[in-house]
Amino acid sequence: MKEMLYEGKAKKIFLTDNENEVIVYYKDDATAFNGEKKGTIDEKGIMNNQITTILFEYLAAHGVKTHYIKTLSDREQLVKKVEIIPLEVIVRNVAAGSFSKRLGVPEGTELNTTIFEICYKNDALGDPLINDSHAVAIGLATFEELKEIYGITATINDLLKEFFQKIGLILVDFKIEFGKDAQGNILLADEISPDTCRLWDAVTREKMDKDRFRRNLDNVKGAYEEVINRMKKG
Ligand code: C5P
Repeated sequence: MKEMLYEGKAKKIFLTDNENEVIVYYKDDATAFNGEKKGTIDEKGIMNNQITTILFEYLAAHGVKTHYIKTLSDREQLVKKVEIIPLEVIVRNVAAGSFSKRLGVPEGTELNTTIFEICYKNDALGDPLINDSHAVAIGLATFEELKEIYGITATINDLLKEFFQKIGLILVDFKIEFGKDAQGNILLADEISPDTCRLWDAVTREKMDKDRFRRNLDNVKGAYEEVINRMKKG
């Protein structure tokens, strides 16, 4: 059995014989509201592994540098070992979620500009929203690194919006994370899946993502399956 390096809420990380590579294992566990709501979504790990694989391969094919190397099994990916930059980078194309609640803007409102947010990735503090000078002041990143991160994030948003639009889904918002490899390169890390994106059907506006779990809606698994089916057809 390989040595486990880390266990998160939705994934486990295992060491490999190569010090520059680790294995990501996708679990079925689902949490929401900073771990207050806990459950499982049957086969979520298998589905999110497939979805992340397709999206990371698509982004890499369009020049985005990612940690992804290859998919090893239905729940496992081989990835480059990176040091995660403790920021959650959130992009919002349409008002929803914590943005709607905090600023009193109804969900579904079109925005005059794309919103880029950063949160300090810290469970004990509940991943608070911060700004660039907070991040630099407490040593999470430099201004130069943030500039690079925002640039890559904007490219990722353009690519993902187009990808999902083609399969009849609106990319409402999403969260990504970055890591630094042994050479100091900034790479897209973690996952991109219905756990970390809001995806609405373009026609019905039905929620096709983890909001179904967060809000106790039915057919959570069916929504993830529908996303995969459209991705495979598209
Ligand atoms: O909750 P909020 O509206 O801030 O979430 C914005 C986006 O970031 C959503 O797509 C959500 O799924 C994602 N997110 C995440 N992990 C978090 C917080 C938000 O994937 N810890």
